[in-house]
Parts: sequence; C-alpha cells; structure tokens
Amino acid sequence: MTIKTLTSLLFVSALSLTNYANGAESPFGADWPEGPGSQEAGALCGACHSLALVKQQGLSKESWDEVLTWMQEEQGMPELNEELRSLILEYLSKNFNPETHAQRRNSAP
Ligand code: HEC
Repeated sequence: MTIKTLTSLLFVSALSLTNYANGAESPFGADWPEGPGSQEAGALCGACHSLALVKQQGLSKESWDEVLTWMQEEQGMPELNEELRSLILEYLSKNFNPETHAQRRNSAP
C-alpha cells in the first residue's frame, strides 16, 4: 500500500466520522432517531434484540416506563441508574409515541 492510498483511507474515515457528528446516518441505522439518549438507547436495547422491536412501538411515556421495568424484571436488562433511565425514557417516548407511530405508518411505501 502506498503512502498516498493510506492517506486517502485515513481521510475517508475521518470524513465519515465528521459526517456522523454532523448528523448523518446513526450507527444504529438511518431510521434510528438522533437526539439525547439516541446512543444510549441504541446500544442498550440493541444489545439483546433488533431495534425494529423498539421502532415498531408507539407508546405513551407510562407504557415505556412499564416496558423498561418489564425488560429489567423479566428479560434480564441491567438496572439503570435514575439519570440513565430518565434519559432513555425521554428518548423513547419522544421518538416512538402514538403520534410518531401514525406518521411512520402513513409514510411507509
Ligand atoms: C437483557 C436483554 C434485553 C435488553 C437489554 C432489552 N430487551 Fe427488550 N426484550 C428482550 C426479550 C428477551 C424480549 C422478548 C420477550 C418476549 O416477547 O417474551 C424483549 C422484548 C421487547 C419488546 C416487546 C416487543 C413485542 O413483541 O411486543 C419491546 C418493546 C422491548 N423489548 C423494548 C426494549 C427496549 C426499549 C429496551 C432498551 C431500553 C430493551 N427492550 C432492552 C430482552 C431485552
């Protein structure tokens, strides 16, 4: 490999990191919404099952709270500290609620 190819490879990978920081496709997929809690929820909920299970839901905050408790008590999800739990709860209820659910369904091809 020449220095020139190496340099351009480095450039390309730096570029893709920059793009991500600027809001390009999330490492969890283009349709995994950005915002506070996105990385945390993606990593945590995606550790055991497909994020499709999460994306297909349209739940109220109360119901998401119950899902978190259910994941914890029955499915082996580690207990979250208060800060992380509320970050993830906010993220889920902001991005996967009954309204966003209807919008996603309507925009499906
Ligand atoms: C330790 C593993 C684990 C983690 C972490 C986990 N889950 Fe689950 N989850 C499961 C299992 C196992 C099931 C299937 C339970 C069943 O259907 O009996 C499930 C099912 C679900 C379902 C039900 C889907 C349906 O069919 O209705 C939802 C919603 C869900 N998980 C959301 C989440 C969210 C949100 C997170 C992150 C905050 C999360 N899960 C993290 C193990 C996990």
